[in-house]
Amino acid sequence: MSIFFDEQSKTFYLEGKNLSYVFGINKFGFLEHLYFGAPIGREDIRYARGYSGRYANAAIPGSYDDTYETYDKLGAEISSYGSGDYHECSVQLMYENGSRLSEFFYLSHEILTEKPRIPGMPSLRGGETLKISLKEKNSDVFADLYYTVYDDVSIVTRHVEFRNATKETVKLLRAYSFTLDFPRNDYDMLDLEGAWGRERRTERTPLHHGTAFVDSKSGASGTLNPFLGILDRDTTEEHGNAYGFNLVYSSSFVLKADVGTTGTTRVMGGINDFDFCWALAAGEEFATPEVVMAFSNEGLTGMSHAYHDAYRKYLINPRFVNESRPIVINNWEATYFDFNNERLMGIIDVIEGSGINTLVLDDGWFGTRNDDHQSLGDWYVNTNKLEGGLKTIIDYCHERGMKFGLWFEPECISPNSDLYRAHPDWAIHVPGIEPAMSRYQMVLDITRPEVRDYVVNAVNTMLKENEIDYVKWDFNRLLTENYSVKLPRERQQEMHHRYALGLYDLCERIIEANPHVFFEGCAGGGGRFDPALLRYFTQVWTSDDTDAYMRTRIQYGTSMIYPLSAQSCHTSICPNHQTGRITPFDSRADIAHLGPTGYELDTKQMTEEEKKAVSRQVASYKETEHIILHGDLYRMDDPHVSNYFAFSVVAKDKSEALVTAFRALCICNDENKRIYPRGLDKDARYEIRELDMTLTGSTIMNVGFLLPNDMVDFKTFVFHLKRV
Ligand code: DGJ
Repeated sequence: MSIFFDEQSKTFYLEGKNLSYVFGINKFGFLEHLYFGAPIGREDIRYARGYSGRYANAAIPGSYDDTYETYDKLGAEISSYGSGDYHECSVQLMYENGSRLSEFFYLSHEILTEKPRIPGMPSLRGGETLKISLKEKNSDVFADLYYTVYDDVSIVTRHVEFRNATKETVKLLRAYSFTLDFPRNDYDMLDLEGAWGRERRTERTPLHHGTAFVDSKSGASGTLNPFLGILDRDTTEEHGNAYGFNLVYSSSFVLKADVGTTGTTRVMGGINDFDFCWALAAGEEFATPEVVMAFSNEGLTGMSHAYHDAYRKYLINPRFVNESRPIVINNWEATYFDFNNERLMGIIDVIEGSGINTLVLDDGWFGTRNDDHQSLGDWYVNTNKLEGGLKTIIDYCHERGMKFGLWFEPECISPNSDLYRAHPDWAIHVPGIEPAMSRYQMVLDITRPEVRDYVVNAVNTMLKENEIDYVKWDFNRLLTENYSVKLPRERQQEMHHRYALGLYDLCERIIEANPHVFFEGCAGGGGRFDPALLRYFTQVWTSDDTDAYMRTRIQYGTSMIYPLSAQSCHTSICPNHQTGRITPFDSRADIAHLGPTGYELDTKQMTEEEKKAVSRQVASYKETEHIILHGDLYRMDDPHVSNYFAFSVVAKDKSEALVTAFRALCICNDENKRIYPRGLDKDARYEIRELDMTLTGSTIMNVGFLLPNDMVDFKTFVFHLKRV
């Protein structure tokens, strides 16, 4: 059993793989957080609560006697402001009389064997769920807290559903998905920060008194990822406690760590309450997004494994998650907007028989789009470019045993488009005010059902009328003007959350309605890479930066949370279009083969040697793809701080491993460099093809591989290990 309630002590024990999460109902009916961490026994641990003496804070209303307690000193599962809790709170309501006071107390609970879906939002599947119903003390506002725990992955998920049973509209000024209190104040915080071309860099900083947070105000989940890690100060890649909080959400979010004056650290987050207010009318309900809380006492590696396993098993679109992935040739960096059937066919001809099996036709096939100034929203083929429509190139692919993929940017609209001329008010804007432009385009107001209907119909018609096997769903700008012309004044601050709900509706009606089509997510590179979208997209384009060196950093950071199987990677031409850097062709491929892979270059410009190399590279990718998709990742050298990068990816049964290392710069007469593969079976013998040797796992892990110091910059070293 994963969820246990001790009637006597009124304590809930959530027991997952290698973790316990414990909280209780206290004498007031308040849900008191007690513990999150390595597994512990079912004992009442309230003895450990922190009452280190009286102090001047206010008593919990109704308890003002000699032994009074204060909210400020209680760990909380839901926390509100105004009755003596001076930490950051997770909920703030406003009643019609202007009062913002609320206190939520226990009403009932039930254990559900089937995890309910969150209305309108994606969430993880499976597990065992605890639903706890709370009532606001002085009104008929109810909050249901949901917790799901799993036997086979080290995570707990949470979210909240509010119900307004009063006769008035109650405003949700803040409605976070979770809160909990850590017992100390000396943690580090880990986040994934970045921007276009350099997404998801790891950043670790010590927490200090006050509130630290990561957030987005852009209506999208980038460029800071909706992830916050809380680490013991001495936690490393391999050792120590690591806690992760990752929101299953694609719009403006916040995740906070608040170190108060009580020696504790309160962590919380959810929908960003900056410029947010949700008017919950009488009888209405409101659901928060889900948070995935991971725990590891085996350092960052264990935390990453918890997320990778949980997402592969219980989140990512199950249709394709375990399938071998399309090996793509994408024409974006090859042609940009300048293509026609002949040029595309020429690109295909060169790689025919190489193992590349899918052409993805990128931006520029529709309307009159010859550059990025027009036509988003006009989802019909530009027959001046593609004579005969898409059929010619699709047939050309299919006749050669290749699949065909097509690029869309369903959420956006160009002011220079037929769609905009017909429906100027469909673009997000405030009437009478010049909108902020980005990449010459605007965002459609998909909070409006009629706009969504147009998008669904336009994309689904293309998919129905053409034999399209694959879709790349792009999103090239962030939201501005947090405003919808169709919302009343008092609901304007609901816009960013309504945008997320609109996006999920589009995903349901396009992606779920076309089960035979493989969907890849993209957002001006990897600008919107979050668990909510992974529920729909099997993989996400990791970054527009295809430079092998930069990719080692981007893929290293992304791997903290997201499995390699979700990180789409391409080999491109040199000098690299984003950095101007020249790197060896094999290095680019070796780094791009650490995820579902492809090529993005004009194959006709490849040298004869490169053309031959492609077949070899694809063959070696195919040999190790199952490890990349399903294996356990061990990070060794961190390219943010080292001249080297190294990953070992080990099959679950430890029968095989792919070890890839990368040296940025050759240093004359450098010190010896060894990499130490991790995660192998220490007693097994492994054949290492590249070294023409057989060695024991323990020898490989402890003695390591010495990397030759040949005079090549940006060089990769790959070792494929097979148990004999
Ligand atoms: C941004 C994407 O990341 C690129 O791969 C490409 O699809 C362009 N958009 C097209 O506009």
